[in-house]
Amino acid sequence: MGKKVTVVGAGFYGSTTAQRLAEYDVFETVVLTDIIEGKPEGLALDLNQSRSIEGFETKVIGATTGVDGSGYEAIAGSDIVVITAGLPRKPGMSRMDLLEVNAKIVRGVAEQVAKHAPNAIVIVVSNPLDEMTALAQLATQFPKNRVIGQAGMLDTARFTHFVAEELKVPVGSVKTLTLGSHGDTMVPVPSRCTVDGKPLSDLLPAEKIEELVTRTRNGGAEVVALLKTGSAYYAPSAAAARMAKAVAEDSGEVMPVCAWVDGEYGISGVYLGVEAAIGATGAKNIVLTDLSESELAGLKEAAEAVRAKQADVAGL
Ligand SMILES: NC(=O)c1ccc[n+]([C@@H]2O[C@H](COP(=O)([O-])OP(=O)(O)OC[C@H]3O[C@@H](n4cnc5c(N)ncnc54)[C@H](O)[C@@H]3O)[C@@H](O)[C@H]2O)c1
Repeated sequence: MGKKVTVVGAGFYGSTTAQRLAEYDVFETVVLTDIIEGKPEGLALDLNQSRSIEGFETKVIGATTGVDGSGYEAIAGSDIVVITAGLPRKPGMSRMDLLEVNAKIVRGVAEQVAKHAPNAIVIVVSNPLDEMTALAQLATQFPKNRVIGQAGMLDTARFTHFVAEELKVPVGSVKTLTLGSHGDTMVPVPSRCTVDGKPLSDLLPAEKIEELVTRTRNGGAEVVALLKTGSAYYAPSAAAARMAKAVAEDSGEVMPVCAWVDGEYGISGVYLGVEAAIGATGAKNIVLTDLSESELAGLKEAAEAVRAKQADVAGL
């Protein structure tokens, strides 16, 4: 049987994710849902009509859902569910400003996912990311390895782009890594950043690296400020779609994701940005990397910051 993946929320993030997933041509079905009547069906029809040009056989199914759970039959038996439902930021807003409104949406969606797709791996992208991932796990009651969040892939990709631009080299020769939270406590790992295998610190002065890190940390806000309505979706959807593909193919690819950390790095009981091997069971295992003293201190600080907020979401 071919794989079935559902994308909840047919806004910018959700619709571009559905497009990427369909164009991979590895899934039998991509289901796209939204509460806006007709929008997911219309987008699905449009995507299906691109199949002969793009050369993929995956079928896209659109389904309008109600907050009462109507329409959720369409997601039945999904192997993977990507949750993109929720409001994006407006200029000047922080991700944390979305906490209450998105918590209601994500909790409602997660409860329906648990009911209709009880064996799914859940990939959360709604913001604030670390908190919404923790909330989706609470609301589904799925084992923690089966609920993961997307942030690190995107932050890393942004950092990589900025380094490649700065040094005028192909993005393919740049490797970067960011851990921690998707926000102010993002932890860049300079010791794991290389260009053609050479340490980034040999190629750029410390102040320049710090400048690129700051731009990466504010990477989402920079796009929001330019767009004025809505937030980034091309790079974010690429990140989430790659995670879903790794699950579908049980590839074991090591990716920076938001995953449950329980003892690794001396940190316990929190959803946090770390590297994990991604496969059919979600986060198969956390992959540890050597961190300098200050990088480890940054990661622990990020853990404490998100731990406090994640405790709050339980009551939302
Ligand atoms: N994790 C990341 O790296 C990252 C990056 C970019 C954006 N985001 C977040 O992703 C989310 C979506 O962004 P977007 O640009 O697609 O926003 P958008 O406004 O374009 O789309 C959101 C969609 O969710 C739908 N929706 C709302 N409640 C729903 C529900 N109960 N069930 C199903 N659908 C529902 C809305 O109708 C809308 O179509 C936002 O919270 C944004 O902050 C995360």
